Amino acid sequence: MKAPDAVIAGFAPALVHWQRRDGRHGLPWQGTRDPYRVWLSEIMLQQTQVSTVLGYYQRFLQRFPDVQALATASEDEVMSLWSGLGYYSRARNLHRCARAVVSEHGGRFPSTSLQLATLPGIGDSTAAAIAAFCHGERVSIADGNVRRVLSRLLAFEGDLSQTRAQKDLWQLAQSLLPERPSADDMVAYTQGLMDLGAGVCTLRRPACDGCPVAGLCEARRAGTTDRFPVKTRRIARRHESWWLLVLRKSVAGQPAVWLERRPPRGIWAGLHCVPVAGDEAQALALAGPFAAKSRHLPALAHALTHRELRLHPVLVDLGPGAAELARAEGWWVPTAQLGDVGLPAPVRSLLMQLPG
Ligand code: ADE
Repeated sequence: MKAPDAVIAGFAPALVHWQRRDGRHGLPWQGTRDPYRVWLSEIMLQQTQVSTVLGYYQRFLQRFPDVQALATASEDEVMSLWSGLGYYSRARNLHRCARAVVSEHGGRFPSTSLQLATLPGIGDSTAAAIAAFCHGERVSIADGNVRRVLSRLLAFEGDLSQTRAQKDLWQLAQSLLPERPSADDMVAYTQGLMDLGAGVCTLRRPACDGCPVAGLCEARRAGTTDRFPVKTRRIARRHESWWLLVLRKSVAGQPAVWLERRPPRGIWAGLHCVPVAGDEAQALALAGPFAAKSRHLPALAHALTHRELRLHPVLVDLGPGAAELARAEGWWVPTAQLGDVGLPAPVRSLLMQLPG
């Protein structure tokens, strides 16, 4: 498939013009060509909204102002600053990537999208975004939002749950790039694609009246925006129930909870967490002789990429002289210090709101 000539000629100029006038400006990662800052923002913005990322981005940069600082940090500290952003493999890859940049590239990010895509955690679209924003490389991003925009624009019928169709659409995306762009043009174009996907060509009820390329859009013409993107395979989320055992006792006059480290693989890998059990009996067995004093707290729902978790917290208050637990390694962490520990977001909010 080839894009219609009118789209090839008209899409990029209209998008660049619109971005400069009506797109997003002044976000903290805009106006810099520092690959470290752009890379950090792009990783944080994967699957995460701008409003959520803002605070994390500033805190990260304050603590790790450059790639060397991040590379030499401990994994614990990185995870703790990431805690609450979710998708924790991003944080582990971020750390690995920083180390690779320092050890294999002399502390400088490589400058082409092809080289960038060889680094841990940097996929093709993120590599394209970094290269376009920092070096004006003429290459198209193609994240989920952009695929939605372009599949509507071109009424692209390929099944985007298949990599074949994703590649075909990326080729089409390449054909729509500005013809001889300056570096500033590539910045505006790339940001324009993002802005269009985030604010105009949304999944539900796209705002076609405010769209700078509505006149070129085939799905709009045919009244079929809701048919695109075509995806036959939806991700199936498995439902699981987890019991969270919250053991609490007073340590030096302060309330403290028992935390353990999650295994290095799987859900919440490497984070700190209260003991997890697969059913209620197991959870109470972990509480041993204190099970009689358990209180069930309201269940919480928590969706992960492939799992729909139902979390059942059980709170057990131990007496001041309770013996150490005889299970896996863990720590009594004063609740006042929970902010310094890498915790899964739902566990953090649970522990911050325990009843007295
Ligand atoms: N989402 C992904 N990258 C982004 C960026 N640079 N600005 C705003 N939202 C984004």
